[in-house]
This record gives sequence, C-alpha cells and structure tokens, in this order.
Amino acid sequence: MIIAVDGPAASGKGTLSKRLARHLGYAHLDTGKIYRAVGQQVLLSGGDPSDPIAATRAARSLTPDALENPALTTDTVAAAASKVAAIDAVRAQLLTFQQDFAANPPNGLAGAVLDGRDIGTVVCPDAKIKLFVDANVEIRAERRYKELLDRGEEIIYSRVLQDLQDRDDRDKNRKVAPLRAAPEAFVLDTSVLNAEDAFRAALAFIESDHSDK
Ligand code: DC
Repeated sequence: MIIAVDGPAASGKGTLSKRLARHLGYAHLDTGKIYRAVGQQVLLSGGDPSDPIAATRAARSLTPDALENPALTTDTVAAAASKVAAIDAVRAQLLTFQQDFAANPPNGLAGAVLDGRDIGTVVCPDAKIKLFVDANVEIRAERRYKELLDRGEEIIYSRVLQDLQDRDDRDKNRKVAPLRAAPEAFVLDTSVLNAEDAFRAALAFIESDHSDK
C-alpha cells in the first residue's frame, strides 16, 4: 500500500504524512530531505546548486545517513534543494531509491507514505491513495516564520514570504516533474483545515472505498 502526499513548502504535508504513517503502521519517507541533502552537499563543496555537474555529482555520492543531518532544515538548504531539484539528471539519480522505498518499505512494514512534489505524478503514479496538501502562500509563510522564530532564528516575515514564493515558482515551473496535483488526488486545503481536521479528512478518504480501487 502506497500513499503519495504532494504539496508546496510549509503546506502541512510533512506533519500529515508522519501522522498517517504512525497511525497506519507504515514507513514514512520525506523525499524533500533527499533533495536537501544533495543541495547541502553542493553548498559544502563550494559549488553552485544550479550547476548540473556539481549537483549530479552530489546526487551520485549521496548516502542514507546524510538524510539524518539536522542542518537540512534551514531555508538556505531549502533554496539549494529547490535548485538541484530542477535538474533532470539529479531527479533521475534519486528516483530508484524512492521507488524502492515505496515498493519495499523498511522493516517489512505493510505500506509506505512518501511526501514530496512529484510522488503521485512521477515517483509512484500507481499509488492507490494520492493526496495533495495546499494552502495559500501567506498562511504558509506565517507558519514557516513562527517555526523559525521558535527555533531562535533571526528572520523577517517578508523575507520568509519571498523565499517561499521563489521556491514555489521554481518547483511549479521547472520542466521536469513540476509540482502539481495528480488529477485523481484528494485535495486538502490547510488554509481552512487545522492539522487535526486535515488528518481526519485524509483518513476518512483512505478508509473510504478509494483504497480498494
Ligand atoms: O519538501 P521540502 O521543502 O523539504 O523540499 C525541498 C525542495 O526539494 C523543494 O523546494 C523541491 C524539492 N523536492 C522535489 O523537487 N521533489 C520532491 N519529491 C521533494 C522535494
């Protein structure tokens, strides 16, 4: 059983995916972390994340422990992730790992929840359940801003909003695997749903006859 969860940055898709995976006893893969690890590797080696040669080299040398690095959560790394993610050869390099995780979840678990930008459209087009989590950009920026403040980072709201808009723009308009909802995806708008309501709505959808199709 594969559950694909896509959506823009700070839409709440990560929170929802983790909660669904815990509730259902499935494995969870935050695929954004993979792109973040590649972006961070390029930055550490002093390269440009938009450079296909540097980015592809970093994608090739990626190891699973790189995904555990706490430094992946910063907005600088997020911007680099969104740049390496626009490169076709990088995406191709990372595809098999994601598909293997979905097909053979670790520890023999019965299913997997993958969240990202292209899970329902490219990585797992045959996923039985496809969710698309969205929210308007000001609400997402507000959430992200509070998260960064709580972490003690010095940041201004207008900068967070601009960063999110730039990232949305790159993620939606790139040529390869752009962010978009699969036509059959169940859309959850977290501008109007809190985390609990989004979880309940997603679970009701999963438990409806959609999971038998
Ligand atoms: O979900 P996130 O914010 O951690 O993702 C970071 C960046 O990685 C995002 O801006 C675009 C890219 N990404 C992607 O292109 N495809 C995915 N499946 C996941 C993330």
